[in-house]
Amino acid sequence: MAVDRNLLIERAKDVRDRAYADYSGYYVGAALIDENGRVHVGCNVENASYPLGCCAETAAIAAMITAGGRRIVAIAVAGGRDELGACTPCGGCRQRINEFADGNTIIIVRADDGRWTDYSIAELLPDSFELP
Ligand code: THU
Repeated sequence: MAVDRNLLIERAKDVRDRAYADYSGYYVGAALIDENGRVHVGCNVENASYPLGCCAETAAIAAMITAGGRRIVAIAVAGGRDELGACTPCGGCRQRINEFADGNTIIIVRADDGRWTDYSIAELLPDSFELP
């Protein structure tokens, strides 16, 4: 499936504007395309009880599953405080992405210099846990 990287990046940046993250002041948006070509988005949702907060990638994955999708073809993550910065998925979200990824899944992440770089899940989560 052809992946419109720019569309995913723009959708991730747009949904970041809706993040509920004043506790940390760090706002994240994620947009993914599933195996049916549908785009799902999520933003981080924090809580006064800090550990209950939810990451943007987790929210986007939940939206995909809710809509019936099962595979992540590509996912873009956009995060930062006031301005966009480098933001790679946290460890927990790497495992969550792994659950619905394959060797072709593209993880699109912004580097410090503002360039968007593609990663595979094997690069971000080598030797990942799998149930035997
Ligand atoms: N956060 C995400 O949404 N995704 C990540 O991959 C990294 C961290 C959120 C969690 C928390 O709301 C804030 O960023 C600061 O850690």
